[in-house]
Amino acid sequence: MANKEQTDTDRMEKIVSLCKSKGFIFQSGELYGGLNGCWDYGPLGTELKRNVKEFWWRKNVLEREDIVGMDGSILTHHAVLTASGHVGGFSDPMVDCKVCKKRYRADQLEDIPSCEKKAQLPKGEDKSCELTEPKEFNLMFQTKMGASADDNDPNAIAYLRPETAQTIFVQYKNVLDSTRLKLPFGIAQIGKAFRNEINPRNYTFRSREFEQMEIEYFCRPEDGLRLTDEWLEMRLDFYTQIGVPREKLHVLDIPDGERAHYSQKTYDIEYDFPFGQQELEGVAYRGAYDIGKHQEHSGKNLEYFDAETKERFIPHVVEPSAGCDRTILAVLCEAYDVEDLTKEGGKKDERTVMRFKPCVAPIKAAILPLLKNKPELVEKAKEVKNLLQPHMNIFYDETAAIGRRYRRQDEVGTPFCIAIDFETLGEKGPNGEDFTDTVTVRHRDSMEQERVAISELLPWLLARIV
Ligand code: GAP
Repeated sequence: MANKEQTDTDRMEKIVSLCKSKGFIFQSGELYGGLNGCWDYGPLGTELKRNVKEFWWRKNVLEREDIVGMDGSILTHHAVLTASGHVGGFSDPMVDCKVCKKRYRADQLEDIPSCEKKAQLPKGEDKSCELTEPKEFNLMFQTKMGASADDNDPNAIAYLRPETAQTIFVQYKNVLDSTRLKLPFGIAQIGKAFRNEINPRNYTFRSREFEQMEIEYFCRPEDGLRLTDEWLEMRLDFYTQIGVPREKLHVLDIPDGERAHYSQKTYDIEYDFPFGQQELEGVAYRGAYDIGKHQEHSGKNLEYFDAETKERFIPHVVEPSAGCDRTILAVLCEAYDVEDLTKEGGKKDERTVMRFKPCVAPIKAAILPLLKNKPELVEKAKEVKNLLQPHMNIFYDETAAIGRRYRRQDEVGTPFCIAIDFETLGEKGPNGEDFTDTVTVRHRDSMEQERVAISELLPWLLARIV
């Protein structure tokens, strides 16, 4: 997509509809009209999300010696977010319509919107909203801890964290002391964050409750800029590995004056969503800002001691910060395909295919006995199911014609369908071949089929779903 503004509403609507009908994503509280900006992942969405998170964790924590994980609390001490600047400054400018009471983000308004209450006014009358002056609106969800007697007791105030990063910064010293890691090293975290967005929109893209996958990578000051560039490349590779191609990703080098004041370098990674080119992840060089602020506010020494050089200093931080839900949305948008299978002169035929990379596909393999009324086929199929089930998410299906069952699996992105047929049981193949104890594996994308011995099936699949 060449143009940043180019959109494909029709495609987006089809993706949203498939996500609901197949059980990827549902509106939260739908039964009661929906909770704006909140989403529930259904059975397939949950598997997809687990796979994306596990892949990220494997690449960024398990396969590296220099990064460890943590899982911080969501309820956050008010002092943490005061020190970080969120209590005073984490806000968007907002304007209200004095007539219809609708609220808008002042920085996203291009024109004065039409007022819902003025819609009935006669032709020629001004039907636009009457907007207030912009006011700063803090995006954090505040709550009260415990049964404080005093409603205004500042110590009873806690916040749902607006980013996972701050829980990492305030535990960096404990992690360092308990692991004896040396610079450069990172702390990774996947977890929920909450922002009271003024206008949640574009499906799950801008939500009020969402998940982040963040790494705070601590380093010596002289390495910060180089590592920021290295992280950018690693993060771009990650997206291609999970099925978001490089040509649909755009790197924005945020210019001076638009970056946070403490950042010497910030890259945004944007993706061509059907609703336009939008941010997936930020890779920011945050310098010594965060640890410095927590040292200042807590009065505790948070310096790093380099045993070799005997230096003490506040480490600098490079932060690749990805949105998990936005990554899932990009993976869904990228996977969705409608393929025309109409043969020349034939009647129209098309199939919907979710072309997930096998590593993130919610179901890895479907086990399909050719006929459900042949006990030998069903028994063999259940043997295959029992063989694979402890190792991967599989789906057993014996209803409907085999062709229909293939199409159902295409729609949910299952990369391999395994059919148990009469040749599996010993019937000779078309050219007299002996296919006893082999199965037909059908590939989702090419629809090609091949025979694989049941004894080889598990390693065959494991090698293809990583
Ligand atoms: N610690 C840095 C930080 O939180 P951010 O740019 O505000 O930076 C990082 O957020 C990522 O989190 C974004 O690139 C995006 O993927 C995701 N994100 C932020 N706000 C979001 C929202 N309201 N809904 C869904 N994802 C969001």
